[in-house]
Amino acid sequence: MNAVARQSAPQSQPRRRLLLASDRRDQSADLARILAGVADVEIVSTAQLPEAPARDLSGIVVDINLRSAESVQLVKHRLLGGSYRPFPRLFVLADELHHGSMQAWALGATDTIARPFDPRDLLARIRAAFPDASEITADARAEAMSKGVAAAHGVLVKIFERLPAGKPLSYQDVLAAEGPILKAIKRSSLREWLATVGRHHNESYRLALFATGYAVAFAQHLGMREEDQRRLTRAALLFDVGKAYVDVGVLDDLDNLQGERLRKFRDHPRRGYEALAAEGSFPRETLDVVLHHHELLDGSGYPDALHGDQISDIVRITTIVDIFTSLVAQRKNHVPLMPLQAFSRMEAMDGQIDQRLLQAFRPVALGG
Ligand SMILES: [Fe+2]
Repeated sequence: MNAVARQSAPQSQPRRRLLLASDRRDQSADLARILAGVADVEIVSTAQLPEAPARDLSGIVVDINLRSAESVQLVKHRLLGGSYRPFPRLFVLADELHHGSMQAWALGATDTIARPFDPRDLLARIRAAFPDASEITADARAEAMSKGVAAAHGVLVKIFERLPAGKPLSYQDVLAAEGPILKAIKRSSLREWLATVGRHHNESYRLALFATGYAVAFAQHLGMREEDQRRLTRAALLFDVGKAYVDVGVLDDLDNLQGERLRKFRDHPRRGYEALAAEGSFPRETLDVVLHHHELLDGSGYPDALHGDQISDIVRITTIVDIFTSLVAQRKNHVPLMPLQAFSRMEAMDGQIDQRLLQAFRPVALGG
């Protein structure tokens, strides 16, 4: 028996591509018929789930017996492996009592549906779980972008205007901004984000907004879970919080600092760390990023001259985003590099920045 069957959506419909992984094709046929209303559906037996999904896949619908260890084992390796990680996955539960739901979440479910299906509800869930770019209107994209930039801008206003005046930045302020920022770049693009914030008149804001865009696009490119995307967004928004305490004259001359002016600039990670630590609710990881984003793997960074394993992955990613942003961004007394030039310069920093992560960043850096 052919393990693969296809059901196509009518030509006038948006073209989602869904993989329906099933270990009971007779039962899955009804599901496939409903899904065909909004997607091209490929039904695959779980034993023949391809090692790597097609690049244009919108997501996976998993219809298996979640209470059978054998059935779970068949899909577990594939679904938790790297190549399937970026794809949303909707699990079918046997009944409305949600038997098997724990197993579904353990297999990385992004949503679940239960038998018996209400076709209208099911299609609404599919549209939400597997957004189709062609269904997101230009207006919705523009709205998401303006809300995302406004949310990030709001945090930066609090950092650069309120913090030096002694008004604390709250962790809640940052958490509230993360969702709109992620949505802006997911619905629109890094390119549009960079174009929008490139028009910002305030240089400190602009640099932080650029860095945030690159960090979020990097997290989304790597297919990180939403919580990890949020952690990186948080890191990118906050890592330079200490610059709020540095004189504008120093910040305007970053490529030529010496002596006391250089010492003042190099104090910014600690100033930022102290400000956020005093507030009391920021996670240890965020404080680590703020304090250590100028550390380098060979120990030549500051303020603590950390080496290699003492520098966490999220700090390493933030450092890469920070260096790249400062090289390519328009700022005073600095001729911006083209992305390829900036990237090559960072490749030459072998031993100082994580080259494995840098290479993973390449498509984001050069595609933005
Ligand atoms: Fe910095």
